[in-house]
Amino acid sequence: MDASLATRLSFLLTLLLLTFLPSPSSCRSLATTMRCNKHDYKALMEIKAALGNPYHLASWVPNTDCCNWYVVECDSTTNRIDQLTIFQANITGQIPAAVGDLPYLNTLVFRHITNLTGTIPSTITKLKLLTYLQLSWTNLSGPIPSFLSELSNLDLLDLSFNQFTGSIPSSLSSLPKLITLHLDRNRLTGQIPESFGKFKQSMYLFLSHNNLSGAIPNSFGDVDFVRIDLSRNKLEGDASMVFKANASTQTIDLSRNLLMFNLSKVVFDSNLLSLDISHNKIYGNIPEAITGLNNLQFLNVSYNRLCGEIPQGGKVQNFDSYSFFHNKCLCGSPLAACK
Ligand SMILES: *[C@@H]1O[C@H](CO)[C@@H](O)[C@H](O)[C@H]1NC(C)=O
Ligand SMILES: *[C@@H]1O[C@H](CO)[C@@H](O)[C@H](O)[C@H]1NC(C)=O
Ligand SMILES: *[C@@H]1O[C@H](CO)[C@@H](O)[C@H](O)[C@H]1NC(C)=O
Ligand SMILES: *[C@@H]1O[C@H](CO)[C@@H](O)[C@H](O)[C@H]1NC(C)=O
Ligand SMILES: *[C@@H]1O[C@H](CO)[C@@H](O)[C@H](O)[C@H]1NC(C)=O
Ligand SMILES: *[C@@H]1O[C@H](CO)[C@@H](O)[C@H](O)[C@H]1NC(C)=O
Ligand SMILES: *[C@@H]1O[C@H](CO)[C@@H](O)[C@H](O)[C@H]1NC(C)=O
Repeated sequence: MDASLATRLSFLLTLLLLTFLPSPSSCRSLATTMRCNKHDYKALMEIKAALGNPYHLASWVPNTDCCNWYVVECDSTTNRIDQLTIFQANITGQIPAAVGDLPYLNTLVFRHITNLTGTIPSTITKLKLLTYLQLSWTNLSGPIPSFLSELSNLDLLDLSFNQFTGSIPSSLSSLPKLITLHLDRNRLTGQIPESFGKFKQSMYLFLSHNNLSGAIPNSFGDVDFVRIDLSRNKLEGDASMVFKANASTQTIDLSRNLLMFNLSKVVFDSNLLSLDISHNKIYGNIPEAITGLNNLQFLNVSYNRLCGEIPQGGKVQNFDSYSFFHNKCLCGSPLAACK
């Protein structure tokens, strides 16, 4: 057989092979079924079983590609599960320890699940890439574990609307990238940790609707709060350190506490959109500088011990008497004229 015949024969052979091989498109779908990482697959199957095979996870069918399942996302380059978001599900049980076996997760959400009970499993600390952790509108209980501070990439931690008790672990302030912290609507007691003055970023802090007591840490003077909500607790004493002239502060809600300080001395951030200090024991008068707040959309200083004339000008006159009533001796529009 001469060389040119051999070449022609092998060419024909190649053609034949190509004809009978699967088309490129079915090649792709074959590859697709292989995307799911086997360790992730195993962990998800364990999670499904631990939650009692709920209807919400019906798409998690054995021996199918977990990258196509509902409520999870696969990273397109690593093909690892990077998001697990269970929302509004009729699921009864606890957060499965196996969530810790999805090491590529950046987002973990259990939200609006009435029958999700128990505590936060410590296996969660294995999720070193987690940036977004939301366990909210569930019935989780027990203390807020200090081991959450091991999740050093977190920028959002939301544990709101649960039954958590005990005090706030001071270690949370060591989370270097944390921007948003929601611990509101729980049953937390004790003081706000002094360490909360050490947050690195401009913070969104929500601690409302708990039973926190004692003084607001003085160290709060060192934090740039964009939004701070400490309302509906039992906080006492001074809160003037929360007010800063040159910060990013847009919203301050200190309402329904036992705070007692002289409002005359506070300074306002020009970014302020909303200020609620109602239902406290705050005294002094309303600083004239409030008339310079061009973005002010909400104001409530009612139910305090304020005195003197309400500053006239700026946005202040947009608010009616319900923003100012029930004080010791505030006067002037929209309340009765000063004597
Ligand atoms: C929660 O549990 C209760 C009692 O077992 C049950 O009646 C209810 O349907 C469950 N699910 C939801 C979403 O409430
Ligand atoms: C939740 O699931 C349980 C068991 O599957 C069922 O009996 C119950 O009716 C469901 N509740 C709701 C609110 O869908
Ligand atoms: C917690 O459970 C109680 C009783 O089952 C229920 O009324 C409540 O809505 C649940 N809380 C949340 C946030 O789902
Ligand atoms: C706060 O404590 C009071 C009395 O100790 C209790 O009645 C109330 O339910 C508690 N509130 C919260 C949100 O834990
Ligand atoms: C805020 O910043 C402005 C300009 O940067 C400066 O003039 C002013 O003194 C500062 N105010 C306070 C209270 O630091
Ligand atoms: C509040 O502070 C102002 C300004 O320093 C002062 O003039 C006033 O007497 C204080 N008010 C009370 C009730 O202490
Ligand atoms: C201010 O708070 C008081 C007390 O909670 C409330 O009655 C009033 O309606 C509030 N005013 C505004 C403008 O929301």
